Amino acid sequence: MKLVRTRQELAEIVTQWQREGEAIGLVPTMGSLHEGHLTLVRALDGKATRRIVTIFVNPIQFNNPDDFQLYPRGLDGDEALLAQTGLVDILYAPDETQIYPPGFSTRISVSGPDRMLCGADRPGHFDGVATIVNKLFMQTRADIAAFGEKDYQQLCVIRRMVTDLDLPITILPVPTVREADHLALSSRNKRLTPAQREQATHLPQALMNCLTALKAGKPASVSLEQCAQTLKEAGFTVHYLELRSEKSLAPVQKAKANTRLFVAASLGDIRLIDNMPVA
Ligand code: PAF
Repeated sequence: MKLVRTRQELAEIVTQWQREGEAIGLVPTMGSLHEGHLTLVRALDGKATRRIVTIFVNPIQFNNPDDFQLYPRGLDGDEALLAQTGLVDILYAPDETQIYPPGFSTRISVSGPDRMLCGADRPGHFDGVATIVNKLFMQTRADIAAFGEKDYQQLCVIRRMVTDLDLPITILPVPTVREADHLALSSRNKRLTPAQREQATHLPQALMNCLTALKAGKPASVSLEQCAQTLKEAGFTVHYLELRSEKSLAPVQKAKANTRLFVAASLGDIRLIDNMPVA
């Protein structure tokens, strides 16, 4: 695996790969890698002949400067973890100068899926995500890119952008990877204190109980209210807890196939998100 720090060097390598007819697979990340990211890399098996993982903590998708500063970082550890897999050709870890030239003033805004759920209380977040993802698609010239369903709304925003802008890339969705107690893997989990980590297990448990209630025919409004109450009692601040269509992300009143529960809830200043399909 080669560590590449500049877009110039990356361009030279991918130009050569394209000449040789390689299929380029991409896993965009913000580092602080865990098993969930490695699962994204493995998901490219048989779909790409070359694999690039990118690490860039993207300032323009953070609407809170403290959250950006506190975001866990550790390039050496990430590099070692990826190298051990033997599956990655390039780790592209640019600094800001390689991504945002002086005077950078363009934003990609995917209206619709970016205005609800996380978009409602993190204004500008999905513009920042769409903009950096588009730049990484351009710089890596990837044929296929893997994204985790843990960030389901992000996946919807990216799919919309790819369709709307005719981007020549396939988006590969990958199911959420969970700890033994069902907490979804996330780089933010590293910021939880041991006590908060124990509390955090209530999040997936509450969602699973809510799904059981919904499948047993309990009205969605009652099940969601009870679930939110359980989370509050467990010490969470609940930002949203909603049943929505998997396709359009529109709110739905009844649990049925192709609907999902979506939650964002904080423990202290650490915001966790999760989602689970009803079917
Ligand atoms: O999911 C993430 O880690 C980030 O939002 C992404 C897609 C790498 C863009 O910065």
